[in-house]
Amino acid sequence: MATAGPLTPAWGVLEALAATRKNFDLGAAFAIDEGRDTRYTREAAGLILDVSRQCIDDGVHRALLQLPDAVGMREAIEAMWRGDPINSTECRPAWHILLRRPTVAADRAPKEFAVVLAERERMLAFAEEVRGRGQFDTVINIGIGGSDLGSAMAVQALRSFSSARTAVHFISNVDGCALHDLLQVANPQRTLFIVCSKTFTSQETLANASTAREWIRARLGVTAIPDHFAATSVNAAAMDNFGIDPARRFAMWDWVGGRYSVWSAVGLALAIAIGRAAFDDFLTGAHTMDAHFLAAPWDENLPVLLALVGIWNINFLKIPTLAVLPYSDRLARFPAFVQQLEMESNGKSVMHDGTPVHWETAPVIWGEPGNNAQHSFFQLLHQGSLRAALDVILLKRSPIDNDHAQRLATANGLAQIETFALGERTDDPHRALPGARPQSVIVLDQLTPAALGALIVLYEHKVYAQSVIWGINAFDQFGVELGKKICHRTLAALESVESGSLDPRGQDSVGPAAGGSGDLRSVRGLIEKVKST
Ligand code: F6P
Repeated sequence: MATAGPLTPAWGVLEALAATRKNFDLGAAFAIDEGRDTRYTREAAGLILDVSRQCIDDGVHRALLQLPDAVGMREAIEAMWRGDPINSTECRPAWHILLRRPTVAADRAPKEFAVVLAERERMLAFAEEVRGRGQFDTVINIGIGGSDLGSAMAVQALRSFSSARTAVHFISNVDGCALHDLLQVANPQRTLFIVCSKTFTSQETLANASTAREWIRARLGVTAIPDHFAATSVNAAAMDNFGIDPARRFAMWDWVGGRYSVWSAVGLALAIAIGRAAFDDFLTGAHTMDAHFLAAPWDENLPVLLALVGIWNINFLKIPTLAVLPYSDRLARFPAFVQQLEMESNGKSVMHDGTPVHWETAPVIWGEPGNNAQHSFFQLLHQGSLRAALDVILLKRSPIDNDHAQRLATANGLAQIETFALGERTDDPHRALPGARPQSVIVLDQLTPAALGALIVLYEHKVYAQSVIWGINAFDQFGVELGKKICHRTLAALESVESGSLDPRGQDSVGPAAGGSGDLRSVRGLIEKVKST
């Protein structure tokens, strides 16, 4: 394993530079340097990345570009491509790049690619069948986290490419409300459920899937169930037990992380929405960004540059949050998608060998579509005491051919970009804006399947590049496992208390020996307050 960035001499150089750039003046930087905009703009896979509004100068830029070689980035990227076990704690590859490798690139591909292609073919054939047959007007994807967010975000983003005949919905929350509301209006004869779960063990997904199965059984009879369900999982036996017809079961693999899986049959709902040709374009856009990440020099490499300016903001300017602000309603779920991608991947505090990191890792990611956010939290971004970094996403063309509306959105985006950069100098402290809010601006020509594929992969590889610099594993998520386990105990405790068989303050059947993690000592009092009876 290569050295983490903070342990290299390159890091020390950056620290020294940061110490003298505490009050970086972006207004002055633009005033003295007319070429700043173009010098800090790069283009690849149909995307423009402009980092000229980051608080960097040429000295910082040069020093940041030393980091990738210092940490062995090239080797780390090649290791991902080779399928090395870069998910070190789980001893497996993180091989999502295989999922978007084009069919024509089957030569010299690893043997796993044949299986990927076969499954892609089955999945797309099924998606086309659903679209062509016209039996279903409602498709409901039941999944959570990586089995929900990617497809849900992409279906909304690519609505202009979707079939009007089929409405595609996404159900994730365990409280059952969203599914309940949807089932009030859905027609069982014309509804297809997709149960999407890498493990097929997520409580939320299984609870919602059982409700859906019961809904079909009660209305159409038990024999109708196989016709109304499809599923994607690593866990074939669990799909079988649930009653999924083998012809409608789709595989995924251990070596794909949930948050990197929209390219597999986890994207079935998306494929049904946009159809085979558009899904192929989505994969092509993603693959184009993969090829760019693999080959481009660091100073041209969009994912690496986005990673480096992030490192500068987080580790050197000590800015702990990143707001993702797309100026398109079509990308309304993109911030939530990036939130899982970055925070679940790089929200870590130990290196590969388990030793603690002594530097910041993933920031808090949040965001909303631009104009709505302007009228809610932009005040804090402009004048709050906490400084946030910003990714602003602009579209050149309207997804709905409404050029005027898009121009309004873009003009708003530009106005905010200018204000974030330059601020406002005035003697009135209430009206003064400090400016110098660091921003990356990403421009898409059009929100096509290919452009969306490239945009997602830009962030996927940014996350990997940052994990390599921080020396952490981006591909496990043990932090979320404990809560899942304890939930079995809290559920049992709630049920016991509600049935009157247990005093919530009693030790006996609520938890293990006091002192063990999950003995519920911190929530015993709360159980009494939230019990329903
Ligand atoms: O709780 C986190 C997580 O494990 C994510 O990593 C994953 O995407 C999500 O749960 C859903 O898991 P599954 O696809 O196995 O249902």
